[in-house]
Amino acid sequence: MDTAILRNRFREQFGTSGDLYFSPGRINLIGEHTDYNGGFVFPGAVDKGITIEIYRNGSRKVCLLALDEKEHNYVEFMLDDSSKPEEHWACYVFGVCKELEKRGVSLGGFNAAITGDVPLGAGMSSSAALESVFAFALNTMFAGGRVDKFELAKIGQATEHNYCGVNCGIMDQFASVFGREGCLIRLDCRSLEYEYFPFDPKGYTLVLIDSCVKHMLGNEYNERRESCEKAVAAIATQWIGVESLRDADYAMLDSVKDLLTDTDYRRAKYVLDEKERVLAVCDALNEGNYELVGQKMYETHWGLSRDYTVSCPELDFLVETAQECGVTGSRIMGGGFGGCTLNLVRDTLYDKFISKATREYSLKFGITPKVYRVVIGDGSRKL
Ligand code: GLA
Repeated sequence: MDTAILRNRFREQFGTSGDLYFSPGRINLIGEHTDYNGGFVFPGAVDKGITIEIYRNGSRKVCLLALDEKEHNYVEFMLDDSSKPEEHWACYVFGVCKELEKRGVSLGGFNAAITGDVPLGAGMSSSAALESVFAFALNTMFAGGRVDKFELAKIGQATEHNYCGVNCGIMDQFASVFGREGCLIRLDCRSLEYEYFPFDPKGYTLVLIDSCVKHMLGNEYNERRESCEKAVAAIATQWIGVESLRDADYAMLDSVKDLLTDTDYRRAKYVLDEKERVLAVCDALNEGNYELVGQKMYETHWGLSRDYTVSCPELDFLVETAQECGVTGSRIMGGGFGGCTLNLVRDTLYDKFISKATREYSLKFGITPKVYRVVIGDGSRKL
């Protein structure tokens, strides 16, 4: 990303120059809504994200300029303030400061300017990128890098929980901090063990199609999590040692079916199905069987749409169009309720698919979807 504009605006606003830091957004090949159920996910960082310029100002004040916000783009708060700023975007930074301080980092004031090229509300985790870039930069500036990368990811997650009202899992922040060029990460969200998987499917391309339905995760996301927790609570009354759906199987779930609403039962069943799909995809990747990977992506999509109910007509339409076109795999990516589909497309079909999907989507919904080819990049860093 060209940082010249960021540099100029920072100098104009604050009269100095500072250091540049970057954290990426992410994709997720498979393993959706499994992270807060203690399951596996398969994310990778992308080459798009949030860049900041930042400089210590020697006071207790934090001054933030968000270049991409049209209004209310300048916010100040004191590190000792107890209530968060009104501007939603600034709450992420406020939360990260508080969470770092909770972990014993003694911060000083700073000036920062923020910009990004990861699309907002498209399911590519722009918010995790924002949290991670501040967690990484402030850790470097005020703690000599002492806070480890796991904790940086947890700081971002805790910011979502405590300051932004989203009870998310760890996947997005983990991918943003730990990303590695050319690799997906298989992360076990219960133990936080992880493994890098080089991902270079010869003859295939990963591409995102943005429905342009903006999503903001909040209550509806939290409700999905609550459904899973209710299923676990019911199972735990009869089976010792079940702490999350990771520990549960179909027999356990079926044994408590009568105690659950149909909605909660179907959501929990989706999670069990997805757990199996992630493992099948790992094997398929090891064997280079991308057609099987793609088949599992479709299964995930329809599970998310019909059982987990986090899709919308626009996303279902994009997936149906992919299916009609013979695309290898296609599904909602991320939390859902809008944002992008992730598509695994044979190179020979790529142009045909993109033109059919954009044309038919525009005709039906009156808006041209955006297309992003996925480039898997590195995680949080100083530039
Ligand atoms: C959002 C959350 C993640 C994860 C996904 C769904 O991106 O932030 O923790 O739950 O949704 O897989």
